[in-house]
Order: sequence, then structure tokens, then C-alpha cells
Amino acid sequence: MSNPNNTKKSGRINVVLNQARQERVKSKDIVYYSEEDKEKHEVLKKFERRMEKYVGLTEIKKLLKEIYAWIYVNHCREQQGLKTSKQVLHMLFKGNPGTGKTTVARIIAEFFHEMEVLEKGHLLEVERADLVGEYIGHTAQKTREVIKKASGGVLFVDEAYSLARGGEKDFGKEAIDTLVKAMEDQQHQFVLILAGYSREMDYFMSLNPGLPSRFPISIDFPNYTLDELLEILIGMGHEREYTLTAEALRHIKDELKLIRIEQERAFSNGRYIRNLVEEAIRLQAVRLLRQGTFDRRSLETLEADDFNFSSSRVQTK
Ligand SMILES: Nc1ncnc2c1ncn2[C@@H]1O[C@H](COP(=O)(O)OP(=O)(O)O)[C@@H](O)[C@H]1O
Ligand SMILES: [Mg+2]
Repeated sequence: MSNPNNTKKSGRINVVLNQARQERVKSKDIVYYSEEDKEKHEVLKKFERRMEKYVGLTEIKKLLKEIYAWIYVNHCREQQGLKTSKQVLHMLFKGNPGTGKTTVARIIAEFFHEMEVLEKGHLLEVERADLVGEYIGHTAQKTREVIKKASGGVLFVDEAYSLARGGEKDFGKEAIDTLVKAMEDQQHQFVLILAGYSREMDYFMSLNPGLPSRFPISIDFPNYTLDELLEILIGMGHEREYTLTAEALRHIKDELKLIRIEQERAFSNGRYIRNLVEEAIRLQAVRLLRQGTFDRRSLETLEADDFNFSSSRVQTK
């Protein structure tokens, strides 16, 4: 974290957070408000704008603001010589596949970088196999190497509960111990995010009583509702300059209703939608070639027939 004890910034909090007072102060010709502050708040606005692109995720949108305010006020308190709370920013992301966990982790890594919490702001996504080795000592070495690579950024461990798979004797335990040690020794050098299915993550945490308190931030990523899935679909089409016919939307809605139930926890939410759109684009191309129609309207329209659900009846898209 950068040192906020900088005279240029002094007095900013009263003014920046309170518009009326800002006017008053200005009218007395005391300029507390610096360009630097303005830019600082731009960080929050920028990330809020970025999050607008994503449907739902209200908890994350709230969290960004909260963390921003927390870090900012901590800077201000430090400036006034007041005690500041320790900023432990390790997190748990709990939810089914495709609910936006990796996407959000990437955004958060960049957010922390811009807030000067993390030096680099990159995301390193790993899973059990990247951490766990084959003999005693191998795991600790592998895990340490991963932590080193993640230094300055976010280390995202996907399906983290699988580290507890084999119980006490499993090398997964060694990976957890190494991670915990690094969280203490290199506290401000990286942010650790453990992700996975809710139930499994809760169980994993309950098996490791020392862990929960190290992750003060726990976020649920709920499955998207039917309407949210359609909104994501329309958005993804729009981004690629495609529109969907009303009939296509009706057809997709009916199919999604069934598929969500059939696939239960395996349903991959946003990822399913992305794959569906990408496949529809290929199927539309084949249809256009067959029809020999290449006018603008045809080129940008996805029809009901372009969406293929038969394969997802047997497997997860
Ligand atoms: N709220 C959302 N709005 C738009 N697209 C989303 C949203 N959530 C997820 N996606 C898309 O779904 C896909 C899978 O998301 P991802 O973050 O990899 O999920 P997870 O890590 O939870 O499995 C990505 O292409 C992502 O852009
Ligand atoms: Mg992911």
C-alpha cells in the first residue's frame, strides 16, 4: 500500500466526500481538493462502469464500493495518525460453474492494482494438480513456486475443496499448510481467492478450523435466473453484432427452463450461454451458405433453428 502521508493530499476527506462542504471550502479560497483525489475516485467509477456490463452480480458490485471506501478511509485515518484496521483481502468465492467467479477475480485483481494494494494485478488461476506433488516435500515446493508466480497479484485456486480430498495423509494438506504460511509471511504481496461449489467449500472450511478467519470476505455467486441468462445471451449477441428473433428467444427460454433442471449443479450458467451463442453463430453461417442469402439483415440475425440444444441433453455445454 502506498504511503498516504503526503502533504499534497492533506484534508481531502472532508471535501471529497461532502459536496456542500467542498463548495464552502472553495469559496474561502482554501483548496483542499486535489486533482489526485479526483483521479482516485475515478478508479471506483471506472470499475463500476466495467461491472455494468455484467448482469446481476449485485453482491460484487456492492463489495467493490465497500472495499474502495474501506481502503480510502484507512488512508485518511493513517494520515490523521489514527489506528487502521488490518486489510486482509483474501476471499472465498462460492458458486456453481459459469456464475462469474473467474471473471470477477480478474476484475478484482486489476481493481486492487489500481488501488495500489497489489503491485502487478495479474490473476494466476490454478487447481489442485498445479499445487499438489507426488512425494513428500514436492507439494510444498510446487505450491511455493505458484505463490511466487502470483506475487503482486491474485492467486485463484479453483475447486479449492479438492485439496482436502484425501484426508490427513493426502498431499493436499501440505498445499493448504504452505498457502496458510504464505498468507502470513507474505501478507500484502498477494491476495488468495479460494473458489468452488458452495456446499463443498463450506465442508472444506469446516475441516480446517484455522481457515475461515483468514478469509474475511466470502461471496456467493448464485445461479443466474432464467431472465438473467436471457439478458446475458442478448448481451453476448449484441457484443458480436447479432440480434435474435422473438421466436428464437421464446425457443431458448423454453429449452433453458428444462436444461437448468436436468443438469442441476453441472449447469454452467454464463459459460453455457457463451457456448450456445458461439455455436449458433457457426450454425447460422452454415444455414446462410445453404440458403445463399448474405444480405445485412440475414447476416446479423440468429433464428430459433440456429440454437441447438440436443447435445446438451446428454452433456454439459
Ligand atoms: N453476469 C454475467 N454477465 C455476462 N456474462 C457473464 C456473467 N457471468 C458470467 N459470464 C460469462 O460466462 C462465462 C463463464 O464465466 P466465469 O467467470 O468463467 O465463471 P466461473 O469462473 O464461475 O466458472 C464467461 O464467458 C463470462 O464472461
Ligand atoms: Mg472459473
